[in-house]
Amino acid sequence: MKAIVVTDQAAGTAGMALVERDVPEPAGNDVLVEVHASGFTPGELTWPSNWTDRLGRDRTPSVPGHELAGVVSALGYGTRGLSVGQRVFGLTDWTRDGTLAEYTAVEARNLAPLPGDVDFTVGASLPISGLTAWQGLFDHGRLQAGQSLLVHGAAGGVGSMVTQLAREAGAYIVGTGRAADREAALDYGAHEFVDLDADTLEAVGHVDLVFDVIGGDVQKRSAALVRAGGTLVTIAGPPEARPADGVAIDFVVESDRAQLGEIARRVRDGRLRTNIGTVATLDDAVAAFNPTERATGKTIIRVRP
Ligand SMILES: NC(=O)c1ccc[n+]([C@@H]2O[C@H](COP(=O)([O-])OP(=O)(O)OC[C@H]3O[C@@H](n4cnc5c(N)ncnc54)[C@H](OP(=O)(O)O)[C@@H]3O)[C@@H](O)[C@H]2O)c1
Repeated sequence: MKAIVVTDQAAGTAGMALVERDVPEPAGNDVLVEVHASGFTPGELTWPSNWTDRLGRDRTPSVPGHELAGVVSALGYGTRGLSVGQRVFGLTDWTRDGTLAEYTAVEARNLAPLPGDVDFTVGASLPISGLTAWQGLFDHGRLQAGQSLLVHGAAGGVGSMVTQLAREAGAYIVGTGRAADREAALDYGAHEFVDLDADTLEAVGHVDLVFDVIGGDVQKRSAALVRAGGTLVTIAGPPEARPADGVAIDFVVESDRAQLGEIARRVRDGRLRTNIGTVATLDDAVAAFNPTERATGKTIIRVRP
């Protein structure tokens, strides 16, 4: 089968190569999935899980990309709950070969049925952004109706999902990003927008919840804006600053079949729009992940037409 692999951590996305690999064998409780579309998250190649397994052993060349939409083509020993021929989508294990390939083996529990009226390209764009937004807002951030939320990168992959889900949940949302992101962020449901290059973040005042996707100085300044009893949730690594009278939580997104179902339901009824930028074939994937101009929205690789 065709697959994208990486071998050199320092090279980042420029080190991606298209190669021929054996189709993986599904292990116990796995399914083998014929990948139709694959998603890849910016920053993924900086995570150790791409390069070493759970025991710290080198696992290169590894296949990146951990979101997929496709069709189950075989079951591993003992696998229940999914069947051959079923349309599925989901998030694959960070420490196993991923989805930028014609086939991938993945634990069945990491996947959910993909409704027939949700396109594979859309399905592959949902798992990481959708689950990260859901878990950050509701599991870790405990967002309630009427609370205020500061969401960084509100027009990005995760931020656009955060903004839409928080709006539906009845929050007051201040989105941030670059000047060019203003209209998109407001369109996703932000009540206000802060241009991080030109506006003063501190003018936002106090908020109940910060959802940080940027880290660094932006995160530090945001911690000071969390009101007493509030929360800073970050997905940009361990928090460098904590609210004076609140909590700071960093987390890595996990697969969750029920939450994938909630996300798919919202996509079907129009409550949630996915933020897809570029769609490319597997043959063109390396170029698509190394754009020469600023790209907005998620890049999805359509593995099968
Ligand atoms: N911990 C986890 O489980 C988890 C899960 C998902 C994602 N992540 C990480 O979260 C980050 C965001 O992912 P994503 O898919 O949402 O990425 P994305 O689609 O690139 O969105 C990030 C947005 O923030 C903007 N932004 C970044 N730095 C900025 C700055 N200094 N000033 C203004 N705007 C800025 C980006 O604009 P530009 O494109 O112009 O920079 C972009 O619009 C990535 O680093 C990813 O690896 C972590």
